[in-house]
Amino acid sequence: MSSRKKLIAGNWKMNKTASDGAALVSELVATIGKQTDVEVVLCPPFTGLESAAKALDGSTLKLGAQNMHFEPSGAFTGEVSAPMLRALFTTHVILGHSERRSYFAETDALINKKVLAALKNQLRPILCVGESLAERESGATLKVVQTQTEAALEGVAKDQAASLVIAYEPVWAIGTGKVATTEQAQEVHAFIRGLLTKLFTEPVAQKIRILYGGSMKPANAPELLAQKDIDGGLIGGASLEARSFVELVKAAAAVV
Ligand code: 13P
Repeated sequence: MSSRKKLIAGNWKMNKTASDGAALVSELVATIGKQTDVEVVLCPPFTGLESAAKALDGSTLKLGAQNMHFEPSGAFTGEVSAPMLRALFTTHVILGHSERRSYFAETDALINKKVLAALKNQLRPILCVGESLAERESGATLKVVQTQTEAALEGVAKDQAASLVIAYEPVWAIGTGKVATTEQAQEVHAFIRGLLTKLFTEPVAQKIRILYGGSMKPANAPELLAQKDIDGGLIGGASLEARSFVELVKAAAAVV
């Protein structure tokens, strides 16, 4: 059993209006809003942050964004900055999601700037890394994960590193119903823990949560969450309904 508190984060992606999101948050607050065994972070689209923040006020649930710009302000039409997120009581921000990398051409260098900006503004990055199907089939998984992790974390100070969260999301498992086997996931998570040890020392690496993401559902979560280096989940589809998300939080609480 590890000393790391499990973390379940819901990535709503481009789903739910502000009012639909607030309704879901209210349902979650009613069922899991007081529990403290598991850290729970909800990541609505930008337009849903304010209403979600109001709906979860006074509960133990936390708020995350799905992206941000690395500059604090300026002429960047359409973008949102870390201080703006902080002003809406956001504590976490997903960075480098594979959908941002593939549809919006985000590079490791850009993601690195965002990670550093998030930390500077006391936002906890949830840094996503993971290989494509072609990369897995050609045996490049660990190399890809290493490159993405090291590049994104360049310049992160050791004393800031414990607030990082890493999400291993094999691209081929996202929204496909294909989940990595527990062995495949644990292998990569342990590898990432090794990289973090080299970058930040063993005691710091032991504090960093490494989440699994990619078709995680109540049915497959218990086995994944029981693995030594799997510290929680970054949930897409199953985070859009209270029932499945609550079941995932309960599954995480059960392995604490
Ligand atoms: P799914 O859970 O829908 O596969 O999405 C995973 C994901 O991309 C979370 O960031």
